[in-house]
Amino acid sequence: MAELREVQITEEKPLLPGQTPEVAKEAELAARILLDQGQTHSVETPYGSVTFTVYGTPKPKRPAILTYHDVGLNCKSCFQPLFQFGDMQEIIQNFVRVHVDAPGMQEGAPVFPLGYQYPSLDQLADMIPCILQYLNFSTIIGIGVGAGAYVLSRYALTHPDTVEGLVLINIDPNAKGWMDWAAHKLTGLTSSIPEMILGHLFSQEELSGNSELIQKYRNIITHAPNLDNIELYWNSYNNRRDLNFGRGSDITLKCPVMLVVGDQAPHEDAVVECNSKLDPTQTSFLKMADSGGQPQLTQPGKLTEAFKYFLQGMGYMASSCMTRLSRSRTASLTSAASIDGNRSRSRTLSQSSESGTLASGPPGHTMEVSC
Ligand code: BEZ
Repeated sequence: MAELREVQITEEKPLLPGQTPEVAKEAELAARILLDQGQTHSVETPYGSVTFTVYGTPKPKRPAILTYHDVGLNCKSCFQPLFQFGDMQEIIQNFVRVHVDAPGMQEGAPVFPLGYQYPSLDQLADMIPCILQYLNFSTIIGIGVGAGAYVLSRYALTHPDTVEGLVLINIDPNAKGWMDWAAHKLTGLTSSIPEMILGHLFSQEELSGNSELIQKYRNIITHAPNLDNIELYWNSYNNRRDLNFGRGSDITLKCPVMLVVGDQAPHEDAVVECNSKLDPTQTSFLKMADSGGQPQLTQPGKLTEAFKYFLQGMGYMASSCMTRLSRSRTASLTSAASIDGNRSRSRTLSQSSESGTLASGPPGHTMEVSC
């Protein structure tokens, strides 16, 4: 029988002598705002130092939400729109958030000296235990995009007991084949590094549409003072090894996984293939309509709602801490999971912006989201 972990979100705290409930509430709010503003830390690892920003207060027996960004971005430019989205606050207030910057990607990062050996993606994954040890966290729920999704997957393969769940956006678990290399080299002859990275992040339609978002990110990447560092992360991404996922193989993700990709994203095929290689009882696949290459930037609302369901499927987010509307929408999913006696079922979610539905694979399991 599936076990749903009920989560207590209201804490009873004794009042200080002479303190009215209103004053206590204001003091708590002020403290929370201070802790929620984000503190940046650096730790030394065998592969150099790594910087990360922590929001929120630790909750006993709760995993931290740990994010890892894609090439050309940092934790802020990749995740701020998602984590500052209104409905997301209801979720993240229950978790500490650790936003990792890949080495040399944090704001104000000095440019690495010429000849600096940038860590491989596998080595970036090997830096994560140093962060968790520093913060005294034993488990995480990871959210990664592109290269960051690869790093978190590699970490989950080597430290399965410490990863409770993964949200992988635009993951490509395969090493580049010789055809990809040839195409990459050809593109490199005519395109600058920023243009190549933009082509990795966004669809061709988005790039030629040149919306405000594209102009913003083109500007950020083209004028990045640490562009040389970004090129090193880009090279590590292009030199990644195959993750070698295989159904029925030992090399697989053991935790619940939500794969996410935009329906016109450059990595759509890679994510579809990744879905076919992971354990279907542990994996949900969310293909998002009208979201382009970076769903966490363009569709934070849809992603927030899907993330809520994902956490609920893992037994976090008791329905008592969800909005009335979300509660009524998720009730059928929760009861279906209990009846099945299976915390994580195989689900393929396709999302249509017109119907506003998330349709789950097995018949009869339909989740609705507001799109
Ligand atoms: C967070 O609450 O986790 C967050 C807030 C602002 C920017 C990025 C993350």
